[in-house]
Amino acid sequence: MKFLWGAATSSHQVEGNNKLNDWWAWEQKGKIEGGVRSGRATDHWNLFKEDLKLAKEIGLNSYRFSIEWSRIEPEEGSWSNEAIEWYGELLGECERNSLIPLVTLHHFTSPLWFAEEGGFSSPQASQKFLPFVRKVVRTLGNRIPLWCTFNEPIIFCVGQYLAGFQPPAIYSPEKCSLAFRSILKSHVKAYDLIHSENKTRKGPWRHQKLLVGYAHNMMDFMPSRDWHPLDRLLTLIAREFYNFSWLDATTGRKQRFGITGLVPFSRPVSSAGGRTTTDFIGINYYSKAILRWRPKSETYETASGLPFGISFSSNQEPISEMGWGFHPSGLGRMLRSINQYGLPIFITENGIADGQDTYRSSFLLNHLKEVAKEIDNGADIRGYFHWSLLDNFEWIKGFRPRFGLIEVDYQTFNRTIRPSAIFYKELIESHHEGHLAPSSAILKNYDSKLLKIQQK
Ligand code: BGC
Repeated sequence: MKFLWGAATSSHQVEGNNKLNDWWAWEQKGKIEGGVRSGRATDHWNLFKEDLKLAKEIGLNSYRFSIEWSRIEPEEGSWSNEAIEWYGELLGECERNSLIPLVTLHHFTSPLWFAEEGGFSSPQASQKFLPFVRKVVRTLGNRIPLWCTFNEPIIFCVGQYLAGFQPPAIYSPEKCSLAFRSILKSHVKAYDLIHSENKTRKGPWRHQKLLVGYAHNMMDFMPSRDWHPLDRLLTLIAREFYNFSWLDATTGRKQRFGITGLVPFSRPVSSAGGRTTTDFIGINYYSKAILRWRPKSETYETASGLPFGISFSSNQEPISEMGWGFHPSGLGRMLRSINQYGLPIFITENGIADGQDTYRSSFLLNHLKEVAKEIDNGADIRGYFHWSLLDNFEWIKGFRPRFGLIEVDYQTFNRTIRPSAIFYKELIESHHEGHLAPSSAILKNYDSKLLKIQQK
């Protein structure tokens, strides 16, 4: 399999008018910064052909997107043929533009009917999620070689039930723990179902080995004060809980999701026990995360109920529009730490919010150098997906942070390729038209090119 040089999006962030999910409802309640709503988002629903053409034009050979459950199953048990057909067309466009699809089944949004019944904190959640997976597998599945069941399960649990940045934004450590359990159960059921039903495939990637995994967010946690026992303890707990609990649970190791005294430990899922229920590890990596016990300064984000703060940048360093510093070495560290699981790895997301495009090229180069270094050290890394193909609706932050390789004008919906996308294209082309994995020797040549771009 050739290396996948790609970019990623998610349904709610780009399609527009996803009116039947929990995020849409939350937005109407004014929960997004500045009271913004996703509305037409980037209008990908109508402009997907143009977007995929642009993806090809900038040299990509793969596209990660998600299928919106609330479109496919707007009410429980009722299916939208129109939505299924649209995703069929999207897959067709991938085929025409030689973009191998990596399809995510759940990227933060759930149908309103499901959310109203308690979402993933309900014990019935996996039974309700499975019919959707089955529908997708039976109608579209034979054209999809690569799957992510869930996007960022841990962020999803934490955002909904601990930190309040995802609907329903209820502080409930018990629900957080129940949600983890249901998501794990749903993941395992989806993993088994896709493998058992997807025996015959068609289309250009029919010979591509079927791989089913997920996209798991990892951060490079570190203590704010090296000498402070509580900052250090927080760091250890965060690594265990946030970075490794999901990985351990899906590789048949221990199932211990919880934090003593804060989040009750979830009951093990028997179907996940003693076996590996993923074919690869997909990681979404963005930044470092500095932890501090009861911080006083405003540079630390806090959530009510939690006795610590988190900062995504160190003092004085340049930051992105999200307030995140640049920390490529953290990606290398994360890759080394997951190599112990002995599975293929994809970087399913990595990117920067940078509307002026000042830092994106160097961000790309420096993170890819880390990927190349780990490949040299023997890691089985099979793809890199930049977040994002397009500027998009950045959840609670609305449209302000601009993550796109391609700029979107939200008045006219015109697309413009950013210079960093051309830089990415050149990088890809110099790796034998994208057939090679990132190579340290090739990437070295780009230091001087970058300098020239920066001097312009
Ligand atoms: C999510 C994306 C999001 C990105 C940048 C990831 O956590 O999967 O949906 O836009 O980070 O915040």
